[in-house]
Amino acid sequence: MKVTAIGTGYVGLVTGACLAEMGNHVVCLDVNPEKIRILNEGGIPIHEPGLDAVVRRNVAAGRLQFTTDVDKAVQHGTILFIGVGTPPDEDGSADLQYVVAAARSIGQRMTDYKVIVDKSTVPVGTADKVRAAVKEELEKRGLGGMDYSVVSNPEFLKEGAAVEDFMKPDRIIVGSDDEQATLMMRALYAPFNRTQDRMLVMDVRSAEFTKYAANAMLATRISFMNELALLAERVGADIELVRRGIGSDPRIGYQFLYAGAGYGGSCFPKDVKALVKAAADTGIPLKVLTAVEEANERQKRVLVDKVVERFGADLTGRRFAIWGLAFKPNTDDMREAPSLVIIDELTRRGATIAAYDPVSMPETARVLGPRDDVALVERADAALQGADALLVVTEWKEFRTPDFDAIKAALKQPVVLDGRNLYDPALMKTLGFEYRGIGRGLLA
Ligand code: NAI
Repeated sequence: MKVTAIGTGYVGLVTGACLAEMGNHVVCLDVNPEKIRILNEGGIPIHEPGLDAVVRRNVAAGRLQFTTDVDKAVQHGTILFIGVGTPPDEDGSADLQYVVAAARSIGQRMTDYKVIVDKSTVPVGTADKVRAAVKEELEKRGLGGMDYSVVSNPEFLKEGAAVEDFMKPDRIIVGSDDEQATLMMRALYAPFNRTQDRMLVMDVRSAEFTKYAANAMLATRISFMNELALLAERVGADIELVRRGIGSDPRIGYQFLYAGAGYGGSCFPKDVKALVKAAADTGIPLKVLTAVEEANERQKRVLVDKVVERFGADLTGRRFAIWGLAFKPNTDDMREAPSLVIIDELTRRGATIAAYDPVSMPETARVLGPRDDVALVERADAALQGADALLVVTEWKEFRTPDFDAIKAALKQPVVLDGRNLYDPALMKTLGFEYRGIGRGLLA
C-alpha cells in the first residue's frame, strides 16, 4: 500500500519505517528541513534502538523516502498518518495547531480518496476537527464532494522499545465509523496480526479516549507508588518489598509499580494535563488524576529534598554527580525529564553539577544551553570526581552494577542518593555508603 507519515518524530518515523518493513511504500514528511536532511544523509535524528537498521534497509529497498515536499507527500499516500506533536497549551489542553495544519495541508492538495489517520495523541472530538479542516480546504478548491475518511489510530509504542512495540503490538486500536477505511486499516495492519488478531475496532471517540485512559492509568500507578514510598520512609517500611508483595497479586501485576524520582517524557505529563483540562471543561473534574499530577510534581523534587536534608539548603560550593539525564533509559528524549528539575533546583541553591548520560548528552546540551554550573562529562566515573554525593536519576543498565569501590574513592563523601532504587540498601551499608533510595525506610 502507499502510505504517508506526516510528522517524522518518534512516532511518525517509527510508523513509517515499520510499515515500509512490511512492504508498503512510505513517504515520511516533516516541516523540519534539518530532520529530513539528516535522514536523507543516512542518519537518524533520534536515539531509538533498532530503528537505524530498519530505516537503512527500507531506504535501500526503495520503500522509504523522506521529504519536506508537501505536494509529493500528500499525493503519494492513500493512507496518510498524522503523527505530529500535540504539546500542552498554556492551560494544559492539547495544542492541536499542528494536527489541524497537517489536515489542512491534505485538504489543500488531495486529488483522490484518502484515509486520514490521526496517530498523534489527541482529545476526544479531534477527528471531527480534522474532518472539518479537510472539508473546508476542499470546498475552497470547489471539491467539497471529494470522498475521504478520518480514522483514529492512537499509538502505544514506548520510546526505547519503539520498533519492537510497533512490530509486536499488544493491541492495535482503530477508531472508525467507516467500513471502507476499516478494511484498509485491517489490510495495512494484517502483518502485525499474524499470530493473533490484536486489532480492536471501535468508534472514533472511544479510540481517542483509550489513549488518554491508558496513559492516565499508567501515570496513576506511578504516582500512587511514589506516594506510598514517601509514607514507607516515614513508617520504616521498604517500598521495594511492598512492591513485590502487591505485584504478585495478578489483579495488580508487577508492571509500573516502581517508586522513583517522578515520571517525565513527552507523553505522561502532557496527556495527564490534557485529560484533566478536557474533563474540567466538560464539568467533570477528575480528582484522582489531578492528584496524580500534583504528586508527580512533588516527586520530581524528592531527590533535591534528600540533598537539602543531608547538606542543608545552601549548597554553595557543593558539587553533585548526576547519573542519567534522559527521562528514562534507552532514549535521548529530555522532554519533562526529572533530571532538568533536579539540576535547576540544585544549581539555584548554589551547587555545581557534573552529569553523565549514555546517550542524551548532546540533547541535554541543546536543552540546557551553555552553563558554567553544569559540566556534561563523557564517562560515568568522570562525574564522580570530588563530588559531595552521587544522584542516580535514570536507571540505565550500565549504572546497575558499578564499581562501588571506585565510586567511594572518587566521591568526597560516600553519599549515594538513588532515585531509581537500583542498589541494595543492605549492601550499600556494608560497603560503607550513606545510601538513600526512594521509600526504603528500613535502613535509611
Ligand atoms: P515529535 O516532536 O518527536 O515529532 C513531531 C514531528 O512533527 C516533528 O518532527 C515536527 O517537525 C513535525 N511536524 C509538525 N507539524 C508538521 C506538519 N504540519 N507537517 C509535517 N510535519 C510536522 O513528536 P512525537 O514524540 O513523535 O509525538 C507525536 C505524537 O504522538 C504526539 O501526539 C504524542 O503525544 C504521540 N505519541 C508519542 C509517543 C512517544 O513515545 N513519543 C508515543 C505515543 C504517542
